[in-house]
Amino acid sequence: MKFFVDTADIKDIKELNDLGLLDGVTTNPSLILKSGRNIIEVTKEICSIVEGPVSSEVTATEYEQIMKEAAVISKIADNICIKLPLTLDGLKACKALTSEGHKTNVTLCFSANQALLAAKAGATFISPFVGRLDDIAFDGMDLIREIRQIYDNYGFETEILAASIRTVNHVKEAALIGADVVTVPPATLKALVKHPLTDKGLEQFLADWSKTGQTIA
Ligand code: E4P
Repeated sequence: MKFFVDTADIKDIKELNDLGLLDGVTTNPSLILKSGRNIIEVTKEICSIVEGPVSSEVTATEYEQIMKEAAVISKIADNICIKLPLTLDGLKACKALTSEGHKTNVTLCFSANQALLAAKAGATFISPFVGRLDDIAFDGMDLIREIRQIYDNYGFETEILAASIRTVNHVKEAALIGADVVTVPPATLKALVKHPLTDKGLEQFLADWSKTGQTIA
């Protein structure tokens, strides 16, 4: 399973990349707002830090304008992935951009049928939003399960990028179902390492080790 971080915060991206945990980055207009940076400048900086795909989202809603924005975004770096809304115009742009050889991420997916359309449009990634479905009392993981089955039924190569991840359990469940990628906020990604028994065990080992009076290096 690939790990993407869902942020435009350079400090967090550098830290996670240095840990060797990052396979890519996803951003969206809200995350760009939070960063306080210019979209082109911050995206370029992210692309220079991370080797894998960096999703940058268009903000236009009509096909012609989406294509104009995609032309600008695609020039930022070789590892750019153009993020497109799950609308008819977004799907049309997805088909065109994929045919031109660009990586694409179709975002704001909330149903299996939407995911089916994105796969038929040749999307590199489909982004089902798990947390936002949970927020309205649906089960976001059911959507991941349905998409996995549909894509496997037909051998679609579009990768399932589980998004709107809110908890460490979301990550585990997405992995059990077989999502190809999770995009996770930095704090949740770092929280994956936590277990009280690991902390307790380490504390005991270190206490006993200091009693030996030995050093290794
Ligand atoms: C995905 O690409 C989106 O940026 C993101 O996962 C949305 O998450 P949210 O629902 O927590 O805003």
